[in-house]
Amino acid sequence: MNEGEYLNQVKLDKSTFTISQMFNKVSTHYDFMNDLITGFSHRKTRKKALHLVSFHSYKRVLDLATGTGDFAFLVQELMKETEVVIGVDISRRMLSIAKNKARNRKFKNLITYNLSDINHLPFRSNIFDLCAIGYGIRNVSNPSSVLKEIRRVTQKSGYLVIVEATSSSYSLIRFFSYFYFRKLVPTLAKLLCLKTEAYSYLAESIVVFPSAQKFTKMITNAGWRKVKYFQMYLGTVTIFIAKK
Ligand SMILES: C[S@@+](CC[C@H](N)C(=O)[O-])C[C@H]1O[C@@H](n2cnc3c(N)ncnc32)[C@H](O)[C@@H]1O
Repeated sequence: MNEGEYLNQVKLDKSTFTISQMFNKVSTHYDFMNDLITGFSHRKTRKKALHLVSFHSYKRVLDLATGTGDFAFLVQELMKETEVVIGVDISRRMLSIAKNKARNRKFKNLITYNLSDINHLPFRSNIFDLCAIGYGIRNVSNPSSVLKEIRRVTQKSGYLVIVEATSSSYSLIRFFSYFYFRKLVPTLAKLLCLKTEAYSYLAESIVVFPSAQKFTKMITNAGWRKVKYFQMYLGTVTIFIAKK
């Protein structure tokens, strides 16, 4: 099935379709820009997130909005008991980069990739021991319903780990980070002749994302238990963990 057929079949809403198109467009320089914008710190946040849930072993792991695959790769590297890792994303081009990167690494298990919308996961209920989503939940128009959908496919007593860029609760940090994402990052993208609208979207998606406290409530309201959050870099990145 080609992308167009798939997208028609699942009847993506307009915003999800636009998001998938946008990530298709930025896919080739996504990793480079991620390193540049965050000063490589995005690598550390995913690692920290997996350490926070590593009190348990997980056989079946789902990486939602896997993008170019880095969260799924870390699972393979750090979680020795894992047997199945599936990466899901709505952007065919992001997935194709993930597949190429995976081919160059020698993982003990193959990572399976699935072109799907995380609003409607193509899996039966109660199968994954751990569901991870790195910098992806901010992109969906209805995070509450996605949190419920992720809970559906998670095993009883399975875990959820989310890494997301958030607004700091310190007004000065918030001021500088909004300035950085709204002004400097799009200017940098322009200088590098990249898609500036994608980087303007990045800033706005961070600004409108709920505070860590509000998002914690949203996770709880979606039926998850024992929801906790950990902030990094003065609250500009937050890791959420929860249990089904
Ligand atoms: C900022 S990237 C994050 C990629 C990766 N998880 C990481 O940690 O770098 C966000 C990803 O979410 C994907 N995405 C956005 N909305 C989605 C949806 N509704 N279903 C599946 N993937 C989605 C995009 O295609 C993109 O690859």
